[in-house]
Amino acid sequence: MSHPQVGIESTQQEDRLFAPPPEFCAKAWIQSREQYDRMYRESIDRPEEFWGKIASELKWFKTWDRVLEWKLPDAKWFVGGKTNISYNCLDAQIDAGRGDKTAILWEGEPMAQGTPPEVRHISYKQLREDVCRLANGLRKLGVKRGDRVTIYMPMVPEAAVAMLACARLGAAHSVIFGGFSSQAIVDRVEDAESSIVITADGGFRRGQVVALKNNVDEALIKTSRVKTVVVLKRTGQPINMTAGRDVWWNDVIAGQPATCDAEQMDAEDLLFVLYTSGSTGKPKGIIHTTGGYMVGTYLTSRYVFDLHDSDVFWCTADVGWITGHSYVVYGPLSNGATTVMYEGAPNYPDFSRFWSIIERHKITTFYTAPTAIRAFMRAGREFVDEHDLSSLRLLGSVGEPINPEAWIWYQQVIGHSRCPIVDTWWQTETGSIMITPLPGVTPTKPGSATLPFFGIDPAVVDRDGVEQPANAGGLLVVRKPWPAMLRGIFRDQDRYFRQYWTDVRGFYFTGDGARRDQDGYFWIMGRVDDVLNVAGHRLGTAEIESALVSHDAVAEAAVVGMPHEMKGQGVAAFVTLRSGFRPSEALKKELLEAVVKQIGAIARPDQIRFTDALPKTRSGKIMRRLLKELASGGEIRGDTTTLEDMNVIARLSTADEG
Ligand code: PRX
Repeated sequence: MSHPQVGIESTQQEDRLFAPPPEFCAKAWIQSREQYDRMYRESIDRPEEFWGKIASELKWFKTWDRVLEWKLPDAKWFVGGKTNISYNCLDAQIDAGRGDKTAILWEGEPMAQGTPPEVRHISYKQLREDVCRLANGLRKLGVKRGDRVTIYMPMVPEAAVAMLACARLGAAHSVIFGGFSSQAIVDRVEDAESSIVITADGGFRRGQVVALKNNVDEALIKTSRVKTVVVLKRTGQPINMTAGRDVWWNDVIAGQPATCDAEQMDAEDLLFVLYTSGSTGKPKGIIHTTGGYMVGTYLTSRYVFDLHDSDVFWCTADVGWITGHSYVVYGPLSNGATTVMYEGAPNYPDFSRFWSIIERHKITTFYTAPTAIRAFMRAGREFVDEHDLSSLRLLGSVGEPINPEAWIWYQQVIGHSRCPIVDTWWQTETGSIMITPLPGVTPTKPGSATLPFFGIDPAVVDRDGVEQPANAGGLLVVRKPWPAMLRGIFRDQDRYFRQYWTDVRGFYFTGDGARRDQDGYFWIMGRVDDVLNVAGHRLGTAEIESALVSHDAVAEAAVVGMPHEMKGQGVAAFVTLRSGFRPSEALKKELLEAVVKQIGAIARPDQIRFTDALPKTRSGKIMRRLLKELASGGEIRGDTTTLEDMNVIARLSTADEG
């Protein structure tokens, strides 16, 4: 990784403090600061005892021999234990008497004028049957323990069914977000060496059909790895079915028994691979194993969201992201909760959709992203006020720092000043929530993720690992292993070590800057590496640059983040052209399309500037800091002494802006 900047200055000043409402505390799992402090101390001082106790609340086919074996950078949790997360999410819940309880409550997007949307209530019993039928069908297609199965699906219950079926068989899933392009499928299928893809004909999104199967077809022209494609019929639009390769989901499950023994998985067996952006052009396959991930998502779901049997829990993330893995599927289901899935866009048919869903299904706990909250704020509170949101008791935020203004709006307009807000900081790599308020305990400050969760030992340090004084900015690290932590990068353990364990020796480096205030509260200040956070989604600048450079006209490209009112961060691209090419609106459009085609619409640059040179150091390194200042609309104020050609700056400042 390139050297992260330290000496981060923090300017944010926020003094408001919101105590949890007493009615909430009275019924919460964790009710007092004393209880939190005591449990936190135990979790840090005696982690094996603490986590061993928590793990015994789940079902194991064989108990572990040791809770933790830690040899940097490898933390093996529940060594020797055997379990299955699909068993814990289904069978264990049915055994506990939740067979008829709704496991997944799903709402489809289409909503013609005056007609209610399609809604499905899938009980734990029904879900187990669906999972077992698919697992048996997949096994017949040759899927076995240890394989990787690619899932590229819309937000329908079958996406969760597919994940749970893989877990049941001991095959790892690799879920690709349905908004990614066909090239993203090629890269991930190749890297994961996956020979089967589960997809759908299409999905509904903002009133349009997303052509998922077409994207898969296009991808499979470029890789011969995939031998089987399972296709769920969702939209019914015409698609091509390639004989000998493509099979309908319904044919796969037809005649399959509704029971299927769960494989006895080793705690350390691979549960899934999930690709995420890093500071190089190639997305990395973050791997999570069975036991630790299960225990981490189980406990955080219960305590952070204060899950009780009567709760209806809605995490709005897509299953294609870690938030969807941990808090749509595994965390809520391993707690026997009702988890809500919604297929479509928040503003379809208009900005009242989310609020009508909350009203219709009496949702109690709502977990979403700051970018969505800002979009709702802009749309106006009249969309909210026409709905009865009195079922809500807790709100959550994730994905990027939430600006205090959005926090207050969320608290007042959505939560009616009645619901605590949990601003949860975590990452694809951490698997589960790391820094967060506990809703019945922690007084919250708008914009702060507050305090560490049990067993988590974060710190703000300088590059030598020295802890920074209160309110000084620095690098956010984690000093001790925790159960749901990543276990590596798929087939690239060297990169895993380099990426996370070398910037600050001895500690896990998150890539984020942060400060800790006088009360010990953490304030996350965003990424300090070449990773952008656009609308809560992680994008590597190098990936976008490589998409731009793939266009014939482009000689060189540099991508930086810029402030963006809605998305938090926007994408600004500086592009130099090969000789013979001239800047034009048409070319700009082609470049935007190239990015959308290679990565997906979420990576589309907000600004493309053509320039005849990029600012570089004498050693040839692009000076991104200068570009960031320019893209943010400012002039260059920082140090330019290492810049090789001073004239570049003058020329850049007048570069064509788009
Ligand atoms: O920069 C932090 C930001 O999102 C990054 C992780 O992105 P990803 O792996 O895609 O996972 C997102 C969902 C867990 C972090 O390094 N981030 C996430 N949550 C917060 C946050 N920044 C500030 N506050 C948060 N609550």
